[in-house]
Amino acid sequence: MLSKFDRYPLTFGPTPIEKLARLAEHLGGDVEIYAKREDCNSGLAFGGNKLRKLEYIVPDAIKSGADTLVSIGGVQSNHTRMVAAVAAKIGFKCRLVQESWVPHEDAVYDRVGNILLSRIMGADVQLVDEGFDIGIRQSWTDALEDVKAKGGKPYPIPAGASVHKYGGLGYVGFAEEVRAQEKAQGFAFDYIVVCTVTGSTHAGMLVGFAADGRERKVIGIDASFTPAQTKAQVLEIAQRTAELVELGKPITADDVVLVEDYAYPAYGVPSAETKDAIRLTAKLEGMITDPVYEGKSMQGLIDLVKKGYFPKGAKILYAHLGGAPALNGYAYAFRNG
Ligand SMILES: Cc1ncc(COP(=O)(O)O)c(C=O)c1O
Repeated sequence: MLSKFDRYPLTFGPTPIEKLARLAEHLGGDVEIYAKREDCNSGLAFGGNKLRKLEYIVPDAIKSGADTLVSIGGVQSNHTRMVAAVAAKIGFKCRLVQESWVPHEDAVYDRVGNILLSRIMGADVQLVDEGFDIGIRQSWTDALEDVKAKGGKPYPIPAGASVHKYGGLGYVGFAEEVRAQEKAQGFAFDYIVVCTVTGSTHAGMLVGFAADGRERKVIGIDASFTPAQTKAQVLEIAQRTAELVELGKPITADDVVLVEDYAYPAYGVPSAETKDAIRLTAKLEGMITDPVYEGKSMQGLIDLVKKGYFPKGAKILYAHLGGAPALNGYAYAFRNG
């Protein structure tokens, strides 16, 4: 589905699939749980889902003649860390707008984790006092203008690389990779669980898995706490991506399965249940998830298994999309483990 698109390799190659046997056993042993380790996908600044997306965006950035990648996220955005890493790798400058998307408890929240890494990688980091919104932001368009005014050539990458024209392609590739791994291992997954916020990870998977009729088996766990906007954005990106890859069948609103129950109390703020899910996964599997994204999708997975959402014997693939560096901004929440 992707052979006609340019791809700039930023990842090691296919990511491993790991069985989470102790977690599944702890939850009653009725389902099998596997994790696809997108969090270990690259040597670039701890990796994560954005690199798969950026592999299809970088060729366009290079072709455009730009010299500066300009992107946006919250203070502890994983995405902006990945853009900073990619800019370093391809020899571009990097301008990042970091908005105040999250109320936080830790005094060093804007000094550690993702933002620390972005600064070390040479990004020009600008803190902006604006709240959470996955849409196009004035602060970002202002930054693009500012780069131009200073003689630079900006290349715009929106939040999460999601509403970029090629933002959905990387996770179409994920589905193709999973299909090849399924063939090699001799069984297929019944469900794919993914954390959804800006939407292109879920949207790309939806298009990729639609090719074998599994679009509604992609279970998005909302972590935005603005699920209507997130769901609409997933649909829009999926439809645009389906056209781009010539999927040959329509994607409708009913194809976007988004579970809204686990994003509380707010984007970036872990509930007691999210923290419990993070601890449980760490203690049973040594697998680290974060309080903003993967902890919430793990909480969703655990709760859905407990509720019997998945039929007995189901094989569930949890997409671990990265994000662990943000944990450094949540030291108070985990001060006692
Ligand atoms: C670790 C992690 N998981 C999940 C997501 C959600 O992906 P998307 O924004 O494509 O919906 C993100 C980024 O927003 C992320 O950094």
